[in-house]
Amino acid sequence: MVEFALPPNSRVQPGKVYKAVGAKNVKVFKIYRYDPDSNANPRLDSYEIDLDACGPMVLDALLKIKNEIDSTLTFRRSCREGICGSCAMNIDGTNTLACLKPIEDIKGEAAIYPLPHMPVVKDLIPDLTLPYAQLASIKPWMQTQTAPPPDGERLQSPEEREKLDGLWECILCFCCQTSCPSYWWNGDRYLGPSVLLQAARWILDSRDEMTGERLDDLEDPFKLYRCHTIMNCTKTCPKGLNPAKAIGAIKEKIMERRV
Ligand code: SF4
Ligand code: SF4
Ligand code: FES
Repeated sequence: MVEFALPPNSRVQPGKVYKAVGAKNVKVFKIYRYDPDSNANPRLDSYEIDLDACGPMVLDALLKIKNEIDSTLTFRRSCREGICGSCAMNIDGTNTLACLKPIEDIKGEAAIYPLPHMPVVKDLIPDLTLPYAQLASIKPWMQTQTAPPPDGERLQSPEEREKLDGLWECILCFCCQTSCPSYWWNGDRYLGPSVLLQAARWILDSRDEMTGERLDDLEDPFKLYRCHTIMNCTKTCPKGLNPAKAIGAIKEKIMERRV
């Protein structure tokens, strides 16, 4: 019989409460905590933050907690500019980047969880081994068979270059990948929107000479065709990209070569 409820040791328990003594402008952050080295269930810790002494973004609040309240809180971050993609997490019910999410956009308590439907390494850090292996499988680099021009680079016309707009900007945060219901259910075989957008980036690059092989590899009922155009991916992308459209472009290329 299919088990729909979480196993008992995965159920999130109420956690510790940290008060902001003497603060006047308080916001509560409820943060998922999980330590694989303890046998304890995950828990939701509650941190009161004095917004008068905190930067404007959710990442500022997380750094304040880590630096001033609870150094055990674990999360990834690097650039704090929306460029590295490492601070992706589920904030207020949406996958997004903590460094680009203004605290003032969150009404009431701020609930923060790791990216959904992935194994958790610790606290807000998901295990991204699978999507990175899937990324490697599409060979995300330019592949050529002919020699480059002896006196220069492989050039593109402005029109050819324009076809990469909306693709090259992807920072591989995996917000879209982990918001996709098809990926939740078939992540072992469906490549998912982040990886397929990267595949489209190379398929649509006029300089790449392995388009046929790339399309052969994707023409598979699971790798590509598990996308049912549900559009969660496009809705959640913090960079405003459209992975569903990129997936559609790959399907079009496959159709084109059939006629
Ligand atoms: S459009 Fe496709 S990739 Fe995007 S969320 Fe829906 S099923 Fe997933
Ligand atoms: S398409 Fe957007 S959400 Fe998906 S990995 Fe790239 S930047 Fe992140
Ligand atoms: S810290 Fe780099 S994208 Fe947020």
